[in-house]
Amino acid sequence: MLEVRNLRKHFRNGWLGRRPVKAVDNVSFTIAPGCTLGLAGESGVGKSTVGRLVVGLMRPTGGSVCFEDLDVFRAGREKARYLRRKMQIVFQNPDGALNPRMRIGEILAEPLQVHRLAKGRYVKERVAGLLEMVGLGLEFYHRYPWEMSGGQNQRVAIARALSVEPSLLVLDEPTSALDVSVQAQVLQLLKATQQRMKLGYLFISHDLDVIYHIADEIAVMHRGRIVEQGPAATVIGTPRHSYTVQLLSSGLALPI
Ligand SMILES: Nc1ncnc2c1ncn2[C@@H]1O[C@H](COP(=O)(O)OP(=O)(O)OP(=O)(O)O)[C@@H](O)[C@H]1O
Ligand SMILES: [Mg+2]
Repeated sequence: MLEVRNLRKHFRNGWLGRRPVKAVDNVSFTIAPGCTLGLAGESGVGKSTVGRLVVGLMRPTGGSVCFEDLDVFRAGREKARYLRRKMQIVFQNPDGALNPRMRIGEILAEPLQVHRLAKGRYVKERVAGLLEMVGLGLEFYHRYPWEMSGGQNQRVAIARALSVEPSLLVLDEPTSALDVSVQAQVLQLLKATQQRMKLGYLFISHDLDVIYHIADEIAVMHRGRIVEQGPAATVIGTPRHSYTVQLLSSGLALPI
């Protein structure tokens, strides 16, 4: 479903713009429907840049991203619109991602109207269904984001991403800003939703423990490159790259 080939992104923000930062350097991977690729690595290795490139929020220096055989960076207007719907991104900080001037009901209705997926009273029905799907009651319909907890807002952000019936979600540290108990609930929600909707996930996190719980495959990033990639149990159980070993030994309690 998703095929990323030799993706590169260089930023010219060195001294006098001379030495580019190779934020993403020759990254390749694929994601099948219903599968999760966990992208792990320390802060600054280029994980978020990969996520933004995949959904087309940024243009690459080189390489390609194909979704259902459509080239994300060469799509015409109509196809680009389709891609904007089928690939959604959820960010780390739910509070910043939701418009504080809009009520939760309006936040969830907006994408349905933009993509013409529902009209009139059906909009409200769909919004109610979305709230239920992410475990929030109808009482949240009239609330503002600042009247909700971080965990509740992240559920709203997930519901908004799901509202347009996507096939792929890029989840950029979706639980990192949350309390450990809420983190587990949101991961559970993501897992259940994935099974029901056959969604592909690119799950980005610096936390290998979290990644191990959700991912089928893990790619470990270091300085813009993927240094190790394979089935989750293999990468965690028998890591081959010294950087993965280092990541694993940096204070994690894995259930193995
Ligand atoms: N818009 C930008 N302009 C210039 N440099 C950038 C830009 N975005 C990211 N970078 C640089 O690219 C590198 C990778 O950043 P990125 O945000 O992808 O890292 P990350 O792995 O997501 O880190 P974190 O775990 O802290 O979120 C960093 O050195 C960062 O400073
Ligand atoms: Mg990041």
